[in-house]
Amino acid sequence: MTPLIEANRVSRTLADPEPFTLVCDASLSVAPGEMVAIVGPSGCGKSSLLYLLGLLDRPTSGSISIDGRVTEDLGEAERTHIRLERIGYVFQFHFLLPELTALANVALPMRRLARLTGDQIAERAAALLEKVGLGDGAGKRPERMSGGERQRVAIARALANDPAILLSDEPTGNLDSANTRMVIAEFQRLAHEEGRGVVCVTHDATVAAAADRRIHMLDGRIVAGD
Ligand SMILES: Nc1ncnc2c1ncn2[C@@H]1O[C@H](COP(=O)(O)OP(=O)(O)OP(=O)(O)O)[C@@H](O)[C@H]1O
Ligand SMILES: [Mg+2]
Repeated sequence: MTPLIEANRVSRTLADPEPFTLVCDASLSVAPGEMVAIVGPSGCGKSSLLYLLGLLDRPTSGSISIDGRVTEDLGEAERTHIRLERIGYVFQFHFLLPELTALANVALPMRRLARLTGDQIAERAAALLEKVGLGDGAGKRPERMSGGERQRVAIARALANDPAILLSDEPTGNLDSANTRMVIAEFQRLAHEEGRGVVCVTHDATVAAAADRRIHMLDGRIVAGD
């Protein structure tokens, strides 16, 4: 089975203001149907690695393949297209647009991909919100929502274009235990029942334990996996 994502000896260094290595020689692959956790102390490079896996940043050496296709030689437009079509991203900070309603936030990636009509987009956005338990919150703006509600909107938005890959960065960072359980159950369902590849950066031991396997990072490197 072709991995959804494959990182082959990926490094990301910064030159300015002084040389610094964010990610060093990291290799991993994620198959359809699995939930993988990336764990490690603050500052070890988890978010940096996730940016690389999600084509939001480019490695300084090594390569990232999506669906078996190397991405380094692709131009920005093509990378953006792969990202829109294949990858959903739940950021460490939710990054919802405050001036838009929940429904409009979820609709945004669909509007960018421009595959569906306006009516279809609105219908699908409402269905996604319903699925994360926010059926009646569609018209609310993020500032009037709780942290858990916002996080659920962010998950619905990440799923907007039906991505094969879901990348999430501390998806339960500011959630209480009930909402954390909800997110874990949803991620497991997305992997195990829907066959997506789910990657989850987390400090939360319950989330890490719920994954099929864990990748441990330290000082920019992958030091262990189980
Ligand atoms: N643009 C940047 N310029 C300089 N240093 C950076 C930059 N981005 C990240 N860093 C540094 O790189 C290291 C890795 O950062 P990263 O955000 O990937 O860590 P993390 O494992 O996600 O941490 P956390 O668990 O706190 O979110 C940190 O020491 C951070 O301060
Ligand atoms: Mg981080």
